[in-house]
Amino acid sequence: MIESFLRGRVTVTVGDITQQRVDAIVNAANSTLLGGGGVDGAIHRAGGSQILEECREIRRSRFPEGLPTGEAVITSGGNLPAPYVIHTVGPIRGAEGGRDVELLAACYWNSLALAVQHNLSSVAFPSISTGAYRYPREEAAAVSSKAIEDFLTADNTLKQVRLVFYQMGDARLFSENHKFRNGA
Ligand code: APR
Repeated sequence: MIESFLRGRVTVTVGDITQQRVDAIVNAANSTLLGGGGVDGAIHRAGGSQILEECREIRRSRFPEGLPTGEAVITSGGNLPAPYVIHTVGPIRGAEGGRDVELLAACYWNSLALAVQHNLSSVAFPSISTGAYRYPREEAAAVSSKAIEDFLTADNTLKQVRLVFYQMGDARLFSENHKFRNGA
Protein backbone atom coordinates (compact mmCIF):
# COMPACT_ATOMS: atom_id res chain seq x y z
CA MET A 1 0.00 0.00 0.00
CA ILE A 2 1.47 3.31 -1.05
CA GLU A 3 -0.86 5.98 0.31
CA SER A 4 -4.17 6.29 2.12
CA PHE A 5 -6.89 8.97 2.38
CA LEU A 6 -10.12 9.65 4.23
CA ARG A 7 -8.77 8.20 7.49
CA GLY A 8 -7.66 5.02 5.76
CA ARG A 9 -10.96 4.25 3.96
CA VAL A 10 -9.20 4.82 0.60
CA THR A 11 -5.88 3.14 -0.19
CA VAL A 12 -3.64 3.41 -3.26
CA THR A 13 -1.64 0.38 -4.39
CA VAL A 14 0.22 -1.02 -7.41
CA GLY A 15 -0.79 -4.48 -8.63
CA ASP A 16 -3.11 -6.65 -10.69
CA ILE A 17 -6.82 -5.98 -10.16
CA THR A 18 -7.60 -9.70 -10.70
CA GLN A 19 -5.62 -10.67 -7.60
CA GLN A 20 -7.25 -8.26 -5.16
CA ARG A 21 -8.84 -9.91 -2.12
CA VAL A 22 -11.84 -7.61 -1.68
CA ASP A 23 -15.60 -8.15 -1.84
CA ALA A 24 -15.78 -6.76 -5.40
CA ILE A 25 -13.35 -5.69 -8.09
CA VAL A 26 -14.46 -3.21 -10.73
CA ASN A 27 -14.05 -4.06 -14.41
CA ALA A 28 -13.24 -1.36 -16.98
CA ALA A 29 -15.63 -2.93 -19.46
CA ASN A 30 -17.11 -1.85 -22.78
CA SER A 31 -20.80 -1.59 -23.50
CA THR A 32 -21.01 -5.06 -25.02
CA LEU A 33 -20.05 -6.63 -21.65
CA LEU A 34 -18.58 -9.46 -23.74
CA GLY A 35 -14.93 -8.86 -22.85
CA GLY A 36 -12.01 -7.12 -24.46
CA GLY A 37 -8.39 -6.36 -23.68
CA GLY A 38 -6.68 -4.71 -20.70
CA VAL A 39 -8.50 -5.03 -17.38
CA ASP A 40 -11.56 -6.53 -19.13
CA GLY A 41 -9.50 -9.25 -20.77
CA ALA A 42 -7.59 -10.00 -17.57
CA ILE A 43 -10.77 -10.33 -15.50
CA HIS A 44 -12.53 -12.63 -17.98
CA ARG A 45 -9.37 -14.73 -18.40
CA ALA A 46 -8.82 -15.12 -14.65
CA GLY A 47 -12.50 -15.26 -13.70
CA GLY A 48 -13.58 -17.84 -16.23
CA SER A 49 -16.66 -18.44 -18.34
CA GLN A 50 -19.20 -17.95 -15.53
CA ILE A 51 -18.62 -14.19 -15.61
CA LEU A 52 -19.23 -14.06 -19.35
CA GLU A 53 -22.38 -16.16 -19.02
CA GLU A 54 -23.76 -13.77 -16.40
CA CYS A 55 -22.84 -10.79 -18.58
CA ARG A 56 -24.66 -12.35 -21.54
CA GLU A 57 -27.76 -12.83 -19.35
CA ILE A 58 -27.58 -9.17 -18.23
CA ARG A 59 -27.40 -8.07 -21.86
CA ARG A 60 -30.33 -10.31 -22.82
CA SER A 61 -32.60 -9.40 -19.93
CA ARG A 62 -31.71 -5.77 -19.15
CA PHE A 63 -29.44 -4.13 -21.69
CA PRO A 64 -30.09 -5.54 -25.18
CA GLU A 65 -28.54 -2.36 -26.65
CA GLY A 66 -25.46 -2.65 -24.43
CA LEU A 67 -24.55 -1.13 -21.04
CA PRO A 68 -24.58 2.66 -21.33
CA THR A 69 -21.40 4.57 -20.47
CA GLY A 70 -21.29 5.46 -16.77
CA GLU A 71 -23.64 2.65 -15.72
CA ALA A 72 -22.61 -0.36 -13.58
CA VAL A 73 -23.84 -3.96 -13.21
CA ILE A 74 -22.68 -6.77 -10.92
CA THR A 75 -21.84 -10.43 -11.53
CA SER A 76 -20.20 -13.15 -9.47
CA GLY A 77 -16.40 -13.29 -9.49
CA GLY A 78 -16.17 -16.82 -10.94
CA ASN A 79 -12.65 -18.14 -10.23
CA LEU A 80 -11.37 -14.77 -8.96
CA PRO A 81 -10.39 -14.25 -5.29
CA ALA A 82 -13.09 -11.53 -5.21
CA PRO A 83 -16.63 -12.99 -4.98
CA TYR A 84 -18.11 -10.19 -7.14
CA VAL A 85 -17.21 -8.16 -10.23
CA ILE A 86 -18.83 -4.78 -10.84
CA HIS A 87 -18.69 -3.98 -14.57
CA THR A 88 -18.77 -0.33 -15.59
CA VAL A 89 -18.22 1.39 -18.95
CA GLY A 90 -15.89 4.37 -18.87
CA PRO A 91 -16.07 7.35 -21.25
CA ILE A 92 -13.93 7.30 -24.39
CA ARG A 93 -11.88 10.51 -24.34
CA GLY A 94 -13.38 13.07 -26.70
CA ALA A 95 -16.24 10.86 -27.84
CA GLU A 96 -18.87 11.73 -25.27
CA GLY A 97 -19.96 15.18 -26.42
CA GLY A 98 -18.22 16.99 -23.59
CA ARG A 99 -19.70 14.72 -20.90
CA ASP A 100 -16.36 12.94 -20.16
CA VAL A 101 -16.03 14.23 -16.58
CA GLU A 102 -19.67 13.55 -15.64
CA LEU A 103 -19.54 10.04 -17.13
CA LEU A 104 -16.25 9.07 -15.51
CA ALA A 105 -17.53 10.28 -12.13
CA ALA A 106 -20.71 8.26 -12.73
CA CYS A 107 -18.62 5.08 -13.21
CA TYR A 108 -17.15 5.46 -9.72
CA TRP A 109 -20.36 6.66 -8.07
CA ASN A 110 -22.59 3.95 -9.61
CA SER A 111 -20.05 1.19 -8.84
CA LEU A 112 -19.86 2.27 -5.18
CA ALA A 113 -23.66 2.55 -4.96
CA LEU A 114 -24.02 -0.99 -6.34
CA ALA A 115 -21.51 -2.30 -3.78
CA VAL A 116 -23.52 -0.67 -0.97
CA GLN A 117 -26.76 -2.09 -2.37
CA HIS A 118 -25.18 -5.55 -2.14
CA ASN A 119 -23.93 -4.93 1.43
CA LEU A 120 -20.28 -5.20 0.35
CA SER A 121 -17.65 -3.47 2.44
CA SER A 122 -14.52 -3.49 0.24
CA VAL A 123 -14.13 -2.57 -3.44
CA ALA A 124 -11.06 -2.33 -5.69
CA PHE A 125 -10.97 -0.06 -8.76
CA PRO A 126 -8.58 -0.05 -11.70
CA SER A 127 -7.91 3.33 -13.26
CA ILE A 128 -11.03 3.42 -15.45
CA SER A 129 -10.76 4.85 -19.00
CA THR A 130 -7.02 5.66 -18.71
CA GLY A 131 -5.94 2.82 -21.04
CA ALA A 132 -7.56 2.06 -24.39
CA TYR A 133 -10.10 4.85 -23.76
CA ARG A 134 -7.26 7.38 -23.60
CA TYR A 135 -8.51 9.45 -20.67
CA PRO A 136 -5.51 11.51 -19.43
CA ARG A 137 -4.36 10.01 -16.11
CA GLU A 138 -3.91 13.42 -14.45
CA GLU A 139 -7.49 14.46 -15.25
CA ALA A 140 -8.87 11.03 -14.31
CA ALA A 141 -7.19 11.31 -10.89
CA ALA A 142 -9.03 14.56 -10.16
CA VAL A 143 -12.41 13.16 -11.30
CA SER A 144 -12.16 9.77 -9.58
CA SER A 145 -10.92 11.13 -6.23
CA LYS A 146 -13.67 13.77 -6.09
CA ALA A 147 -16.40 11.23 -6.95
CA ILE A 148 -15.08 8.75 -4.37
CA GLU A 149 -14.79 11.38 -1.64
CA ASP A 150 -18.27 12.76 -2.36
CA PHE A 151 -19.73 9.25 -2.13
CA LEU A 152 -17.84 8.17 1.01
CA THR A 153 -18.69 11.43 2.81
CA ALA A 154 -22.39 10.47 2.55
CA ASP A 155 -21.92 6.73 3.15
CA ASN A 156 -20.57 4.91 6.17
CA THR A 157 -21.00 1.28 5.16
CA LEU A 158 -18.04 0.95 2.77
CA LYS A 159 -14.95 0.21 4.83
CA GLN A 160 -12.33 0.05 2.07
CA VAL A 161 -11.97 1.49 -1.43
CA ARG A 162 -8.72 0.35 -3.02
CA LEU A 163 -7.30 2.12 -6.08
CA VAL A 164 -5.13 -0.38 -7.96
CA PHE A 165 -2.61 0.95 -10.50
CA TYR A 166 -0.78 -1.35 -12.88
CA GLN A 167 2.44 0.70 -12.86
CA MET A 168 4.18 2.64 -10.10
CA GLY A 169 4.32 5.63 -12.43
CA ASP A 170 0.53 5.66 -12.66
CA ALA A 171 0.21 5.56 -8.86
CA ARG A 172 2.65 8.46 -8.62
CA LEU A 173 0.66 10.49 -11.17
CA PHE A 174 -2.45 9.83 -9.11
CA SER A 175 -0.70 11.02 -5.94
CA GLU A 176 0.27 14.24 -7.69
CA ASN A 177 -3.18 14.95 -9.15
CA HIS A 178 -5.85 13.63 -6.77
CA LYS A 179 -8.30 16.04 -5.13
CA PHE A 180 -8.90 14.25 -1.84
CA ARG A 181 -9.56 16.95 0.78
CA ASN A 182 -9.07 14.94 3.96
CA GLY A 183 -5.58 13.64 4.61
CA ALA A 184 -4.59 10.06 5.40
N1 APR B 1 -4.79 -4.68 -13.22
C1 APR B 1 -4.88 -3.34 -12.91
N2 APR B 1 -4.83 -2.37 -13.84
C2 APR B 1 -4.68 -2.75 -15.13
C3 APR B 1 -4.59 -4.12 -15.54
C4 APR B 1 -4.65 -5.09 -14.51
N3 APR B 1 -4.57 -6.41 -14.78
N4 APR B 1 -4.47 -4.15 -16.89
C5 APR B 1 -4.47 -2.88 -17.32
N5 APR B 1 -4.59 -2.03 -16.28
C6 APR B 1 -4.65 -0.56 -16.28
C7 APR B 1 -4.16 0.13 -17.53
O1 APR B 1 -2.77 0.35 -17.43
C8 APR B 1 -4.95 1.42 -17.48
O2 APR B 1 -4.29 2.36 -16.66
O3 APR B 1 -6.04 -0.24 -16.20
C9 APR B 1 -6.27 1.04 -16.79
C10 APR B 1 -7.48 0.91 -17.73
O4 APR B 1 -7.05 0.39 -18.96
P1 APR B 1 -8.01 -0.49 -19.93
O5 APR B 1 -8.10 -1.87 -19.40
O6 APR B 1 -7.52 -0.29 -21.32
O7 APR B 1 -9.46 0.14 -19.77
P2 APR B 1 -10.11 1.44 -20.45
O8 APR B 1 -9.10 2.50 -20.75
O9 APR B 1 -11.27 1.77 -19.56
O10 APR B 1 -10.64 0.91 -21.86
C11 APR B 1 -11.72 0.00 -21.86
O11 APR B 1 -10.55 -1.53 -23.28
O12 APR B 1 -10.05 -3.65 -22.63
C12 APR B 1 -10.94 -2.90 -23.37
O13 APR B 1 -12.99 -4.14 -23.28
C13 APR B 1 -12.33 -2.98 -22.80
O14 APR B 1 -13.27 -1.83 -24.66
C14 APR B 1 -12.90 -1.69 -23.30
C15 APR B 1 -11.72 -0.72 -23.18
